[in-house]
Amino acid sequence: MTDHLLLPAAGVGRRFGHDRPKQYCTLADRTLMEWTLDLWLNVRLDGRRLLILAQSDSQGRDIARSYSNLDVAVGGEERADSVLAGLEALNAQEQDWVLVHDIARPCVRVEDIERLLDHCHRTGRGGLLATPVSDTIKRRDGDAVSTIDRRQLWSALTPQCFRFGELKQALASALSAGVTITDEASAMERAGFPVDLVEGARDNLKLTRPEDRALIEFYLMQQGR
Ligand code: C5P
Repeated sequence: MTDHLLLPAAGVGRRFGHDRPKQYCTLADRTLMEWTLDLWLNVRLDGRRLLILAQSDSQGRDIARSYSNLDVAVGGEERADSVLAGLEALNAQEQDWVLVHDIARPCVRVEDIERLLDHCHRTGRGGLLATPVSDTIKRRDGDAVSTIDRRQLWSALTPQCFRFGELKQALASALSAGVTITDEASAMERAGFPVDLVEGARDNLKLTRPEDRALIEFYLMQQGR
């Protein structure tokens, strides 16, 4: 059984609102993409590492060339299309494990990644890093507002780790049904495969909005990187 890594980086980052994709914004001396790629150099994996880029992304290809053992695949319209394209390019064994990690999460900790992998290897069940929700969450349906019991709520982070064969089947099925899928776990849940939550650090933030940038810079500094 082998562990592979997919790094979806084919998004345009609409909510970030810059003229270029958010993975190319610079934090100190490096692009966000390089911060994330550098972190993964510290994780021992025996399989392939695949960076998923938009078709026309020459900057990403240039960056990828400076990392050894990093292959490139072309992504799709939505994140789930990109991940499925990455799985097709990976062409792994059914039982292999695939970690999927957002390129826009540079602060993930190596020890959290290793804990997730250990969990999957030990139990044979797929899972994801997640944190318990700390805000009180409201549901608005027209004028009706209700409160959801937050003791049951977790925020989904990445990496997410699933068996190659099951993940490919679950994503293909969700996409062909036209279901909106924003992470791998939701496709796995829909397909009836087990999904476990492994608690991860809260600083594993995704760069989504401009105000996240200063916080990510702070977390990287605090981690001594
Ligand atoms: O847009 P969002 O922040 O949810 O994207 C999460 C990750 O998925 C990012 O790393 C982004 O580059 C990637 N993505 C992708 N292909 C898309 C859309 C998003 O690889 N079509």
